[in-house]
Amino acid sequence: MLRTITLIAIVAISFSLAFGQDDSKVPCRIIYVPTEQVVVEKMLEMAKVKKDDDVFDLGCGDGRIVVTAAKKFGAKGVGIDIDPARIKDSLATMRKAGIKADLVDIRQGDALTVKDLERASVIMLYMLPEFMEKLEPQLKARLKPGTRIVAHDYPFPNMEPDQVVEFETGGSRPKFLYMRTVREAKKK
Ligand SMILES: C[S@@+](CC[C@H](N)C(=O)[O-])C[C@H]1O[C@@H](n2cnc3c(N)ncnc32)[C@H](O)[C@@H]1O
Repeated sequence: MLRTITLIAIVAISFSLAFGQDDSKVPCRIIYVPTEQVVVEKMLEMAKVKKDDDVFDLGCGDGRIVVTAAKKFGAKGVGIDIDPARIKDSLATMRKAGIKADLVDIRQGDALTVKDLERASVIMLYMLPEFMEKLEPQLKARLKPGTRIVAHDYPFPNMEPDQVVEFETGGSRPKFLYMRTVREAKKK
């Protein structure tokens, strides 16, 4: 009898932990899947990252994209992630690479409400379609002409890429990278 009650209690607690959270305040729940380093390098190459760039990774995971841009090209970086565990990972990546906070700024927060998005000259993304759809109008309204946007695997719903690269990494399926440069607004 005691065993049965204990078992029921364990199942009930597990269910409430798994499904009982209030998700209504979470802006966009996307799990962490790191981009392979070879793909990171390709994304930076497609964006033609150089020293005077400000590279933003929206949903930065372990921070390798911005840290690699800083280490390889001396570019400034901003990495934003909603998950505190990823912020710890990003800071560890910076420490390992010897990159300081004056070059790479790692922030915890929602990548859909970035206060200084206008500063970006390169935007990197590996996010799901739901996020891309929400972000797209902001990018159109806020980014300056010449800003390069590189999206891994999930393109924007309405923004045609200038370049699509299919990329074999030896995994189970090829990777797709979508690059677009922001144009001057059309004069009315
Ligand atoms: C697929 S991973 C990509 C990580 C990294 N950009 C890369 O390419 O290796 C997506 C990341 O976005 C973060 N994330 C999900 N929703 C977010 C949001 N609304 N704002 C900021 N980060 C978010 C997750 O915590 C996760 O680390």
